Amino acid sequence: MRGDLGTEIEALVTWLAAESEGATIAPEQTHPAEREMYALGEEIFFYRAGPHDFSCATCHEQSEMRIRLQSLPDLTSHTGAADAWGSWPAYRISQGLVRTMGWRMRDCFRQQRWPELQMGSDDQHCAANVHGSECRRRA
Ligand code: HEC
Repeated sequence: MRGDLGTEIEALVTWLAAESEGATIAPEQTHPAEREMYALGEEIFFYRAGPHDFSCATCHEQSEMRIRLQSLPDLTSHTGAADAWGSWPAYRISQGLVRTMGWRMRDCFRQQRWPELQMGSDDQHCAANVHGSECRRRA
């Protein structure tokens, strides 16, 4: 969250992103475990819960929407998903640190008043896997 210090994960992800500059983002969906993760991610994406009855899709399945000045990417579209994946990790001026896409998603969980997303959990990997697969599927 805001004010959290960076960890070795940000450093590792930044190094990996730099090393794979220009590579196509195309997570495999061949192994049953990968398909299982995708299915769980899809379920999380459309699952409505919490005091606002929000799902990820509430904020992320339409184009041209925004909350105040922040535009909301349509993560069900190839372009939205690809832009999201391709733009992390990112240096956040407000944080004074490089942050990961998982870090951004954790704030999404907070905004929809869900329990705190545990970094490195299956939930986080599944949600990310759905967006990655969206990049591949509609490419
Ligand atoms: C209350 C609205 C809201 C909900 C619900 C929400 N998000 Fe977000 N999400 C945002 C906002 C705001 C941003 C930041 C957009 C920006 O930086 O321009 C964002 C950004 C993201 C990004 C980064 C996109 C990019 O282009 O950098 C991802 C990935 C993401 N959300 C995934 C999710 C997932 C997965 C869920 C469900 C667990 C979810 N969001 C639920 C509001 C929401």
